[in-house]
Formats: sequence, C-alpha cells, structure tokens
Amino acid sequence: MQTDSSFTFVLFGGTGDLSMRKILPALYEAHRAGMLAASGKIVAVARHEADRDGYLRWVNEHVKAHVAKSGVDDNAWASFIDRIEYVKLDLGNAEDFVQLRDAVRDLPGTRVFYLATGPSLFVPICRALASVGLNENARIVLEKPLGYDLRSSNAINDAVGEIFAEGQIYRIDHYLGKEPVQNLLALRFGNALFEPLWRREWVESIQITIAEELGVEARGDFYDNTGALRDMVQNHLLQLLSIVAMEPPHSMDSDSVRDEKLRVLRALKPIDPRDISRVAVRGQYHAGVIRGTSVPAYATEPGVKQDSATETFVALKVEIDNWRWAGVPFFLRTGKRLADRIAEIVVNFRPVPHSALGASALRAGANRLVIRLQPNETIRLYCLAKKPGEGMNLSSVHLDLAFDQFFKEGQMEAYQRLLLDVINGRLALFVRRDEQEAAWKWVEPILNEWAASGKPKPYAAGTWGPAAASAMLAQHGTCWLEEEN
Ligand code: BG6
Repeated sequence: MQTDSSFTFVLFGGTGDLSMRKILPALYEAHRAGMLAASGKIVAVARHEADRDGYLRWVNEHVKAHVAKSGVDDNAWASFIDRIEYVKLDLGNAEDFVQLRDAVRDLPGTRVFYLATGPSLFVPICRALASVGLNENARIVLEKPLGYDLRSSNAINDAVGEIFAEGQIYRIDHYLGKEPVQNLLALRFGNALFEPLWRREWVESIQITIAEELGVEARGDFYDNTGALRDMVQNHLLQLLSIVAMEPPHSMDSDSVRDEKLRVLRALKPIDPRDISRVAVRGQYHAGVIRGTSVPAYATEPGVKQDSATETFVALKVEIDNWRWAGVPFFLRTGKRLADRIAEIVVNFRPVPHSALGASALRAGANRLVIRLQPNETIRLYCLAKKPGEGMNLSSVHLDLAFDQFFKEGQMEAYQRLLLDVINGRLALFVRRDEQEAAWKWVEPILNEWAASGKPKPYAAGTWGPAAASAMLAQHGTCWLEEEN
C-alpha cells in the first residue's frame, strides 16, 4: 500500500551504527514494499563522508548486509539509492546548517529530522535547526537513551520543548513497534476471554523477561556509562509492563493509549531505598560459554573499565498500587550474555479455589499464559487435563497459537513500522514526555542506591544470571519459567 504522504527524511548520524543496522534497512524495506511515497527523499547528514558519492559507497558497503533475510532486490535497491541525498555537516559550524536548509528547502512533503546521535547532541542540533527556521512544520525523532536520569532527561525535554511542540516530538522505544507487542493489545482488547481474568483475583504473578545472548559488542564505552537499568528497564521493560497492566483504552488514538500507560507508570509502588536489596538484583557477566563458544568477561570487553560496577543484568519485583493489581508481584528481568535470547511475558493464574478433583489436581499446577515476543512469536496457554487411564490424575498440557502458521505474510520490523508512523504522523507508539518522566522517577531510587554502594553480583555468561534472582522469586513461592521442573 503506497502512501501519498510525501516526506523529506533527514537522518543525523547518517554513518552511525543505528543508521547502518536499523534505520536505513527499515527505510529500504518500506521502499521495497511500496509503502513510501514515490517523491519521498532521504537526506543523510554526517561529517565523515565528503560527498554523495562517498556516502552512497558507504551505504552500499555497509547497509546491504543488514537488509532483511529475504535479501536485496537489485531494482528496488537501485531506486532506493536514488532517494538518498547527502549533506556533510559539522555540528559546530552554523554555516553548515544554512547549507542543510538550502538542500531541503525545495524538497517535498513532511519534514522529519531523525536524531540517531548521542543524547548530548539533541539540544545543540535542535537549536541549530531552529536558527535556520527548520523546526517549523517538522517532526523530530529522538532515540533512546533520552538522558541519564530524571534531571538530564528533563533538561533535554525542556530545551527541545522550546523549539518543537510535544505533538512534533517522536520519542522512539523500538519495543513498541514490535509486531508481537502490538499483538498483546489485540489479545487483551480484541478478545472477551482474557480480560475478565486479567486482574488480582485471578492472577498470582507476572514475569516479563528480555534476555539476550549478545554481550555489549562494540558499545562497551556507551554501555559502561549506562547499564541495564537505564538501557532496558527504564524504557523497554516498563513500557511492556504498562501495556500488560493498563486499563482498556477508549480507542487506539495516541493519547488514549498513552494516558492509560501513564496511569500504570504513576501507580508503580515507589521503592523504599531500604528495601532495594530485597526487590532488586543486579549482576555482571563473567567469562563463560554460550552455545559452545567461550565468551569473555564484561570487564575485559573493549571500552569497559576493568573494575567496572556497571550492571549487565537486572531482576526486579515491581508492584502496582491500584485496584486491579494490588498485591500481584510483577517480576522483571533483563540481561546480556544469558543462556538464551528470549523476550516473553508469563501470566501465572491462581490455582482453582477448591479442587473437586482431589489433591492431585492441585499438585498439577495452575493455568498459565506465556506470550513469547521473540524469537518465534507464539502464545501458549497451559491448562490441566486428565491423564489417560484409571483414576483422576491431572497433568499440564498446552494450547499453542503460532503466528507464522496463520499469517504467511512476513512480519514488519519494529523500525519499519515506527518510521512509517513518523512519516504518517501517528504518535501512539511513541513515548510521551510524562510517561518518560514517570519511568525515570520510579527507577531513580535504585539508580542512586546502586551508584552509592555495593557491586553487581557475578554470573557466568551463558547462565540465567545471579542465583539471587531466583531466590527473590522463591520468597514468593514461585520461580522463573525456565526453572520449572
Ligand atoms: C536496545 C538496547 O534498546 O535494545 C540494546 O540499547 C539491546 O542494548 C536492544 O541489545 C535489544 O533489542 P532487541 O530488539 O534486539 O531485543
């Protein structure tokens, strides 16, 4: 479906890692699928390449390898390349912004500025854009992390807010663009089956895990100043939590959904600094083996300080102080160099209140819904059934919904969906300032406490993190899904 929304997409950080791995491949995919207006242009901005020819050489060398598994269609690639213009720009040089203005002045459609740069450059870039009048009628996309804590994020939001109105600002959290996360909304609000049970009376606990096998790769320097709490919890995990826990929105328009997510974030039970060791576990990976390959310790990765106290693993117990969820623990977990790459949500229902089927029925467990976000998107509903033969012995069995069996069409990558949303002016999947503030406010006591004392607990790469993460669940009579049986 080709859109008639023409656009000029200006990409700052045009030779950066994110542009290479995600943004340009996503734009190519949208182009190949005929989802971009024919007249739309991409203007890459960087300081490394001298001219358009040099930039296109870089794109050909570096971006192709990151294009979807289906490979590159030569004709589509050639016409994609035709869309790309290049402006060499030094941020410190005001004259370069005049040249940028001249380069985009006569280009068509909605103007989008995508800042795929470090957050310290957001404000200088926005000011420089305003100085040449480029902020008017434009949209600005800000990549995470937006700041380092509540104060720095507020400072950026205040300064950007003087130049762009909130409705022009698209704060990316790419987890919100993932197909299965969209599907979670469909599951909850498109079916009558689950919603009546989606509450404290029927749910005992919820787990949300984003586990990675990868380490910090080439980002040691950035990561060592960031850590898993800022990199994954403040944004991706709290966003997933808010979608799992929110009330049904009035509609899917941008503010209805974001208002409901905000209510959840504001209802997160504040963490008392004295309780942190009970409800928060941090870890750092040591050398280990993942799928038969030895991998080094975090502290020896390039860019990482040898005595680093940065966490590469976090597990938290979170509570939501509202009528629907009071008393239900939400266990969140994320880490690098874990045993598997998995993102999933596990809803553990309460056992039946009385077992007419005898004691064995209760021992066989309870219902559970496992929503696997990646890889292999599936929803699995565990039920109890009678084992064949004599007697009433129950066993846990499951119903599976594997999406690729129903939908043969390829899924859209998160960045592709989000970039199309920016071009088409749809804000629902972008984080509003008040959501971001509420998330920072909630994580800040943990950040402060961890910065002030102690160190992360070690865990071997290729495992599921420090034992303390399991002990935390054991206190609630439960365990992480992979520890069952
Ligand atoms: C990014 C983090 O936001 O998300 C990375 O900065 C992390 O550290 C990545 O690896 C995970 O995203 P995905 O889509 O691969 O699960």
